[in-house]
Amino acid sequence: MALWGGRFSKDTNQRVADFSESVSYDQRLYPFDVQGSIAHVTMLAEQGIIVQADAEAIARELQAIKARLDAGEFELKSELEDIHMNIESALIAALGEVGARVHTGRSRNDQVNTDERLYLRHEADEIRAALREMQRAMVDLGSRHPEVILPGLTHLQNAQPVLFAHHLLAYVEMFERDRERLADCRKRLNRSPLGAGAIAGSTLPLNRERTAELLGFDEVLRNSMDAVADRDYIIEFLAALSLVAMHCSRLAEDVILWVSQRFRFLELDDAFCTGSSLMPQKKNPDVAELVRGKTGRVYGALFALLTTLKGLPLTYNRDLQEDKESLFDAIDTIKAILGTMAPMMASATPYADTMAAAAADPALMATDLAEWLVKQGLPFRDAHHMVGRYVGWCAAKGVGLDEATLEQMQESIPLAKPECLELFSARRSVGGRDLTGGTAPVQVAKQLAFWANRLGD
Ligand code: ARG
Repeated sequence: MALWGGRFSKDTNQRVADFSESVSYDQRLYPFDVQGSIAHVTMLAEQGIIVQADAEAIARELQAIKARLDAGEFELKSELEDIHMNIESALIAALGEVGARVHTGRSRNDQVNTDERLYLRHEADEIRAALREMQRAMVDLGSRHPEVILPGLTHLQNAQPVLFAHHLLAYVEMFERDRERLADCRKRLNRSPLGAGAIAGSTLPLNRERTAELLGFDEVLRNSMDAVADRDYIIEFLAALSLVAMHCSRLAEDVILWVSQRFRFLELDDAFCTGSSLMPQKKNPDVAELVRGKTGRVYGALFALLTTLKGLPLTYNRDLQEDKESLFDAIDTIKAILGTMAPMMASATPYADTMAAAAADPALMATDLAEWLVKQGLPFRDAHHMVGRYVGWCAAKGVGLDEATLEQMQESIPLAKPECLELFSARRSVGGRDLTGGTAPVQVAKQLAFWANRLGD
């Protein structure tokens, strides 16, 4: 008979038990369930609701149960539904009446929400650390190749030359915002639902502030109904993870393009690629493709929970049990993505020559020519128009922008001087973009030093 079986005259139908169990996946909450229960009984004893000796016996037995779970020597029973009732049943089996006091003034509704918050607090810290490693990998790769130039793209078309390290540091910024978002989300999830009971609190003199303090929560959730019904923090967490996945997926796409034969900008270490079972020559960027592919699963978790919650009346409904499986999957997926992508990036090598050759196309310096004219006092629109005319003339003649004579250039750009013909150097172009956030080597060196310092703990 289930722990709640008092008012029932029959056992649960086996199909119902199978359909509704959650222990097969919520077992991962066990360390947090034990932590929460120990704080709860400590408070109960301090408040004189149970005796000290009972609280101590319960805490000791919970630690023993945890040790068995750690060692894989605890038999989880699906007929006991979830991890919470598996642990409580074991406690009662060991301590009898004393164990039966653990659930005093508590419901699984506040218990589950407490456990999930403790779990997510832990995972927020782990994923923030994994993002740090990802940032380190990108900064290391950039620092090893500070001079390498490649064509920066807009619309996937050559735009302007940029430093390879500048491109990599763009991702470091994205991952920094991801870390900020997780830290921010952590603030809101680090609040205690414990003591909210099933919905309305308790007639027992519980001290909610004390359990919050014991569990390291920053504050107590003010409204008991909100405390058991709220899953906003999980949605926020999944939204933050979706952005992590999206950033990794964009990086993956850059890598996939760069390693393709059309670009040949990057070589991945053999250990991070796979071959074809048929074509002997193949070396495929499967890791990057899987990162791109797995991103869909993470978004799926976000949309699943948004959908689950949208029609739920207050407060707890069993639908809320569905908040876990896809959350756990999203967390595992993100950790796997970051854990694989960081060493893949750290061990990659740019083909500096191919990148430089692609960036040497003088058309990439057309803007530099227009800006040179602006420095001579021309309005930018006029400068843009003149250079456009010159680009058109070169295209019609089939010559590069650096191949015309000064006289020919002057037909489109009357103000042109001999020094205009020297603007068509990618290195000079990059070096000229010497402003905050620009791609000039001095600026990028500053950014690399900034990140090395920030990440260097
Ligand atoms: N396994 C359930 C969950 O994760 C536990 C809470 C059940 N509460 C209830 N009143 N049936 O949501």
